[in-house]
Amino acid sequence: DRPVRVALLGHGTVGSAVVRLLTGRAAGLRDRIGAPVDLVGIAVLEPARHAGPWRHLLTTDAAALVDADVDVVVELIGGVEPARELVLSALRSGKSVVTANKALVARHGLELRAAAESSGAALRYEGAVAGAVPVLRPLRESLAGDRITRVSGIVNGTCNFVLTTMTRTGGCYRDALAEAVRLGYAEADPTADIEGHDAAAKAALLAFAAFGAVVDPGEVRRTGIAEVTAEDIAAAQASGRVVKPIAVCERVDGQVNVAVHPAMVRADHPLAVVDGVLNAVLVEAEAAGELLFRGAGAGGDATASAVLGDLVSVARDLAAGVTRPADAAPVALPVDPRGGT
Ligand code: HSE
Repeated sequence: DRPVRVALLGHGTVGSAVVRLLTGRAAGLRDRIGAPVDLVGIAVLEPARHAGPWRHLLTTDAAALVDADVDVVVELIGGVEPARELVLSALRSGKSVVTANKALVARHGLELRAAAESSGAALRYEGAVAGAVPVLRPLRESLAGDRITRVSGIVNGTCNFVLTTMTRTGGCYRDALAEAVRLGYAEADPTADIEGHDAAAKAALLAFAAFGAVVDPGEVRRTGIAEVTAEDIAAAQASGRVVKPIAVCERVDGQVNVAVHPAMVRADHPLAVVDGVLNAVLVEAEAAGELLFRGAGAGGDATASAVLGDLVSVARDLAAGVTRPADAAPVALPVDPRGGT
């Protein structure tokens, strides 16, 4: 069988986990895909900082790697540029892209989807929302025959870890944040977590998957967790509630509201018991009722699991000669300019 040739951009926490799982599970992946996966190169900024048996695959020329004879580009650089240029270049030349880059897809999804559609390439980004937790594909595919009314969840592990730690210890958020950074959950700049930018990008992706709503993450109504005090946590506990970082996308009067904020959640609510770095997404649909997706929302291996799932899906289609739409959404609802609830 002709191998599926893969280029990897980025070899950080998630990228190195992808390489390890990809090489460690080569035989199983080949069986699932129907062809072997051939990792042809890994683009990094400083090769000297990346040891390992695949050192011979390292290159600093990401653009040349994308232009090379590859079928799928896995983008794990993060941030908008140069990721956007590289992903666009891949999609325009008909190469499918798998990414976990929420900022990129949330801000430039329309442009990326248009490029993918015109060349027949696939664009997948399950790892961009809630790490290992499969939620975009269920929203877009498994629930395509239903009518989704609301998607709410905990989609930032760092904020959940910080608020959970404050709840357990009664302490302030600084020590908890330092621990989240140390464990590798936080973004390169943890203010993206704390101020809700990371969750806003994920909420925008959820709104697109659930409602076809194109949401500018900069316009998501957003409140971070830095202002949450030990007194707020205690007041919540005194009334049988717990403070959680919540993202909501909701269908209201034919429009979609999207918001991200800390909220006091009843102790018996399904999201109240989602603690630590865990993520969870609660989907409400007319026929299906309530569905809860819960699991590891951050970390190298967890996110790599979602990336590999997308890679297998794309590679399987390539091996079978099937072309699927880039990222079809079942319905398209406008976004309420007044913001969230
Ligand atoms: N910084 C993110 C989080 C990582 O804490 O959830 C996963 O996107």
